[in-house]
Amino acid sequence: MIDLLVVGANLYTLRDYGHPRKKEELKDLGFIENGGIAVENGIIVDVDRSDVLKEKYKAKEVIDVEGRAVLPGFVDPHTHAVFAGTRENEFLMRLEGKSYLEILEAGGGILSTLKKVRESSIDDLIKGLQKRVELFFEWGTTTFEAKSGYGLNFEAEIKQLEAIKRVNETTTAEIVSTFIGAHAIPEEFKGNTDGYVDEVINKMLPYVAQNNLAEFVDVFCEKGVFDVEQSYRILRAAIELGLKAKIHADEIEAIGCSELAFRLPMVSCDHLLKITDKGIEAMKQAGAIATLLPGTAFSLKEPFADARRIIEASIPVAIATDCNPGSSYTESMPAIITLAVLGMDMMPQEAIAAATINAAYAIGRADRVGSIDVSKQADFIVLNESSYLFIPYHYGVNPVFKTFKKGRLTKHASAAAD
Ligand code: NIG
Ligand code: FE
Repeated sequence: MIDLLVVGANLYTLRDYGHPRKKEELKDLGFIENGGIAVENGIIVDVDRSDVLKEKYKAKEVIDVEGRAVLPGFVDPHTHAVFAGTRENEFLMRLEGKSYLEILEAGGGILSTLKKVRESSIDDLIKGLQKRVELFFEWGTTTFEAKSGYGLNFEAEIKQLEAIKRVNETTTAEIVSTFIGAHAIPEEFKGNTDGYVDEVINKMLPYVAQNNLAEFVDVFCEKGVFDVEQSYRILRAAIELGLKAKIHADEIEAIGCSELAFRLPMVSCDHLLKITDKGIEAMKQAGAIATLLPGTAFSLKEPFADARRIIEASIPVAIATDCNPGSSYTESMPAIITLAVLGMDMMPQEAIAAATINAAYAIGRADRVGSIDVSKQADFIVLNESSYLFIPYHYGVNPVFKTFKKGRLTKHASAAAD
């Protein structure tokens, strides 16, 4: 007797090829008509047509989804979800003409969230993150990455990473942790970026690695923030300590950040609004994934990343929310899928693959999540409608009827069609 049998689905398995999908591979949704999933102990034990599964298994619980679309839970591979306070005043300033970097240079932006995070207790950060976990589940995200980067000193960076660890331990959430001590230059090191880079390398990184507080390291490589050589020093030191590398590259200006993939084994280069041919070549050589964040371009009113050029170059593409209180305040992967399709000219199938299986590869979790395959976790979503197309098509509303994490229904408020 197995735990759960889901039947009657328009099932999009996004089956795992054993590597992140490129080019034409992005379009294969691994569709099974009238499909089903057999689950035992939170793990998928069989995937097949419903009639075959019904014949084969007795289950404690059988859920007939009555022709609804079922997909892997979304994987959000780039968020800054551990924050305190919000920045709606800066949103207005940007609409009135100030740029994102001008606001940061004047001590706002990341630095205003920093103030709130430093003032917060770890319990406050945990509470905020838990609230966001519920929203992620509500919008169909079952695994996400979250970064530090709003502490920018030893104590506050560690506090953010500890908050992620605690939420991972105490809820059904699955959060992949990234250390981004080099997210901005704190006031104490103004005019001494190299001094701050030393602090990150000598003080923060060794502690993060020794205490397993992060799997990834990231740097905001940008004009006026951390330059290419400073980013290289940090990422190289982190790799030597056993962390995996990713980077905020070519978001606002092209200063050669994605080209670091020529010199370092980058798992992903993220943003890429201003990607150059050389950057594309570097990523290709490194086998890096391009994690695109169309919500950020949309929110900053910048031209979108050139997803078509990146896909045609055979680089695997993932998409993410970039969820943060400044440049992209959303927990909704369905919104990001709509923007990927309507703003970046990705086909709906490509956007779904980028939000599931390729996103899982982008955070080193494809062995467990990102597709509906035997032996992976039973992380899946049931839509209100019969087709995946409703995700980009019926925008501005939540298409997710139910979210399952490790075979269990998550608690979430939407359930409009319940
Ligand atoms: O990915 N660019 C740097 N970091 C974030 C924004 C963080 C913030 O504004 O709070 C980004 O856009
Ligand atoms: Fe970001």
